[in-house]
Amino acid sequence: MPKEMLTVVDRPLIQHVVDEARAAGIEHFIFITGRNKSIIEDHFDKQVELEEALRERGKTMELELLSRDLPEPGQTSFTRQQSPLGLGHAIWCARDLVGDEPFALLLPDVLVQTSGAGCLAQLLDVYAEHGGNVLAVEETDSEDLHNYGVVDVETGENDIYPVKGMVEKPASGSAPSNMIIMGRYILQPEIFDILQAGETGAGGEIQLTDAMLKLLPSQSFHALKYKGRSFDCGSKVGFLAANVAFALARKDIGATFVQELKKLL
Ligand code: G1P
Repeated sequence: MPKEMLTVVDRPLIQHVVDEARAAGIEHFIFITGRNKSIIEDHFDKQVELEEALRERGKTMELELLSRDLPEPGQTSFTRQQSPLGLGHAIWCARDLVGDEPFALLLPDVLVQTSGAGCLAQLLDVYAEHGGNVLAVEETDSEDLHNYGVVDVETGENDIYPVKGMVEKPASGSAPSNMIIMGRYILQPEIFDILQAGETGAGGEIQLTDAMLKLLPSQSFHALKYKGRSFDCGSKVGFLAANVAFALARKDIGATFVQELKKLL
C-alpha cells in the first residue's frame, strides 16, 4: 500500500492534497509515482463496480460524492520516478508534462489544515501580487530544523518575506532561520534547466532546495508564513494527529468523535 493511499478520516492522503489543489483552481494534476503505486492511478478513475452497486441500492448521496472527487477526463497525467534519487529528481521527471509554464508543487505527505483558504490558495494570492516563485513556510523548534529545507529571509510584511537564501537539511546550529519549507510551492519552469544537471546535495540526493538556491540570483522567491497547521503524515504521530484534527473538524462526525476521545483521555 503506497503511503499516499492511507486514509485520513475517510479519504486517501493524495485525495486531500488534490482537494486542496482543486480548491485553489488547479485544473491539471500531474502525479509523479513509482513502482508499486499504480493504485493511485486507479483511485482517480471511475469505480465501475462500486458505482453499479451503489446505484442498485439507491445510494445517490454516495454516488454523488464519488463523482465529485473524480477529476474530469484528461485532467490527470501520471509519470514515474524510476529510482529514488531525491525530490529534485522526482520533479524533473515531470518536465515534459509541465512544459514551459509555472506550476504548483504539493508534497502529499504534508497535510495542511486551515480554517479559511487552503494553503495553496494562500500561495496563489502571493503569486498574484509578486509573481516569481512562492514557498509555504512555518516556524519550528531549532532542534527540528535539520530535517527540513530552511529559508533565509529579508524583513517582510503581512507574513510574506523575500527569500535571500535557503539550505536543505542544515547541520545542527547552522540554520539561517527557524522557518522551514513546508511541502507547498509555486515554481517557474526554469527550475527544470537547473535540475537537468542532476547535482546531488544533502543525503546524496538531487535536492529541490539546491536547485531553487541556484535560481535565486535570477528570479524572485517569496516565503509565505501561511495561516493553518501542517501535519507530517510521513511520521506515525503526525499521521495520527492529522486523523484526529481532520475528524474533529468534520460537521458529520466531529461532535461524536469528541465524546469518544474524552472517554479515551
Ligand atoms: C522535503 C524537502 C524539504 C522540506 C520537506 C517538508 O524533504 O526537501 O525542503 O522542508 O520536504 O516539506 P523530505 O521530507 O523529502 O526529506
